[in-house]
Amino acid sequence: MPDKKLSGEVFYPPENVLRHAHVKNWEELSASAEQDLEGFWAKEAHELHWFEHWDKVLDDSKKPFFQWFVGGKTNIVYNCLDRHITTARRNKLALLWEGENGDFRSFSYFALGRETCKFANVLRALGVQKGDRVTIYMGRVPELVIAMLACARIGAMHSVVYGGFTVEALAERIEDSQSKVLIVSDGSYQRGKVVHLKAIADEALQRAATVKSVLVVKRTGEDVYMESGRDMWYHELMALPIAGNNCQIEIVDAEHPLFLLYTSGTTGKPKAIVHTHGGYMVGTYTTLKYVFDIHEEDRYWCAADPGWITGHSYIVYGPLLNGTTSFMYEGAPTYPYPNRWWQMIEKYGLNILYTAPTAIRGLMRFGEAWPNRHDLSSLRLLGTVGEPINPEAWKWYHRVIGKEKCPIMDTWWQTETGMFMITPTPAVPLKPGSGTKPFPGVKMDIYNEEGKSARPNEEGFLVINTPWPAMLRTLYNDADRYVEQYWSKYPGAYLTGDSARRDEDGYFWVIGRVDDVIKVSGYRLGSAEIESALVSHDAIAEAAAIGLPHEVKGNAIHAYVILRAGIQKQDGLIDQLRSHVAHELGPIAKPEHIEVVDSLPKTRSGKIMRRVLKARALGQNPKDLTTLEE
Ligand code: WT7
Repeated sequence: MPDKKLSGEVFYPPENVLRHAHVKNWEELSASAEQDLEGFWAKEAHELHWFEHWDKVLDDSKKPFFQWFVGGKTNIVYNCLDRHITTARRNKLALLWEGENGDFRSFSYFALGRETCKFANVLRALGVQKGDRVTIYMGRVPELVIAMLACARIGAMHSVVYGGFTVEALAERIEDSQSKVLIVSDGSYQRGKVVHLKAIADEALQRAATVKSVLVVKRTGEDVYMESGRDMWYHELMALPIAGNNCQIEIVDAEHPLFLLYTSGTTGKPKAIVHTHGGYMVGTYTTLKYVFDIHEEDRYWCAADPGWITGHSYIVYGPLLNGTTSFMYEGAPTYPYPNRWWQMIEKYGLNILYTAPTAIRGLMRFGEAWPNRHDLSSLRLLGTVGEPINPEAWKWYHRVIGKEKCPIMDTWWQTETGMFMITPTPAVPLKPGSGTKPFPGVKMDIYNEEGKSARPNEEGFLVINTPWPAMLRTLYNDADRYVEQYWSKYPGAYLTGDSARRDEDGYFWVIGRVDDVIKVSGYRLGSAEIESALVSHDAIAEAAAIGLPHEVKGNAIHAYVILRAGIQKQDGLIDQLRSHVAHELGPIAKPEHIEVVDSLPKTRSGKIMRRVLKARALGQNPKDLTTLEE
């Protein structure tokens, strides 16, 4: 361990964890990666299968359009499945799944490979080709994973839309990606109720005309509308001869796009982040291996939803690349009782739990008695992601769940980064609330307005100074916006959109977003999207949405609306507006509070000054707000 005494409250790695850790000497690994960036990533890439070796690890000749493993040929699915199926891992559990209603299913690597091949053949038979986009809209069920892998296997791009989104959000994403195929489930279970996903999809399809085929997975068995000539049951297709057991894998260039994932930005239109087979594969494989210290016998649980990047990288691809056993749970953490998670950890003997601060805070409220009823001694490592974790929640997680013997990996990253960027490994001393330092091979900094490194503890813009393999390659169909959004403020540096500070030990402390992105329960939403959902209601002329601190959710949405001329504020209008947003965008976007106002603060050019609204709501003087906001 470093001799230097660290400031503040520090938690050193427990001996038993350190003894097993892949990375025992973090400083050494980090120094070697800094010395030879390409060599570091090439060594990791060599642990995976390539049909053809790359010519160049990193090509920065067209920056900021960086390319990785140029000339290499691979397919991420080969490394997730086929590579294991020829070894003893063939019979190892790849996926354990529990439904909210208690259903249980499991898949060995062989079985997951088989299902993936069959479904890939179905997609091919329906005319899906290399480069095509396929939208996936489901609850947390194994078929979601199979659908993603099947697309990737044939070189098509999946675009997963989170099952908590609704009509307009789905329609927009289908239309923008020009998907011809939609894979959906009839419904999903959440808090003991059924969410009617197929019905939401039917409504979305009236607004998005590109889809020719809809494949419906039966989960709840409820009655759903099936449009003849368009809608087909997944299980019926999988029983046809077209669903053959063997499916020739599409060998693709390292830079071939793997998926699109929409995320909120500063405008009303979500951005489609593009990730690729080669670099994303190497990035997720390496980071998961070192950070969650994956060992052959582990049972790993990332409690996120596959519909977000956390699920893509660390439920689906990272774990399968590492040949580990991943656990997935369909429903709500508190259903039927607040011990559901702890019960499953005990039942399945899970070793690693990776979740979000909001979930921890939510479960904390129910008290220690619930986790204390269960044997959680299988846990070795804990993780958190999505927003800054408050030290109180960190300590509860550490003491009550981890029994003071499980280090907490606080991983900072983004949809855009594809992989962990600021994160400890189990060998790194922890400070509650800090993600510690950038991962080996990643260089990050904090800039002041002039683009100079901020002094210790000075707040500034968080930037990334080195390219990394899992970086987004562009925004789908919008390369200009890619350059503008991420690479134009400071030449040569990637702008994260977060503010942060670095302490005297070089530890990073992320503060939060500095743009108009709101993090609600760790979910990323754009002010502009919520505003356009509000304005799409007949009664509303103008709207502004901001995030204000919330004890469990981190932030909650507060909206201000101006009514259309001639419209009077009536009883029930606010509730109607809240439901309207939930119907258009999703329950997660439902404003906590809506206020009818006569005017909104604006700049001379007519842009709504959300920071003024925020300052007013917080009882601050807008001038006292951080200078980071423009
Ligand atoms: C934003 C990215 C990447 C997985 C989930 C979120 C915030 C993420 C942390 C963390 C503090 C965090 C940042 C970032 N964030 N992880 N450990 N500590 N803040 O992905 O939806 O693209 O959101 O989430 O603000 O920019 P995302």
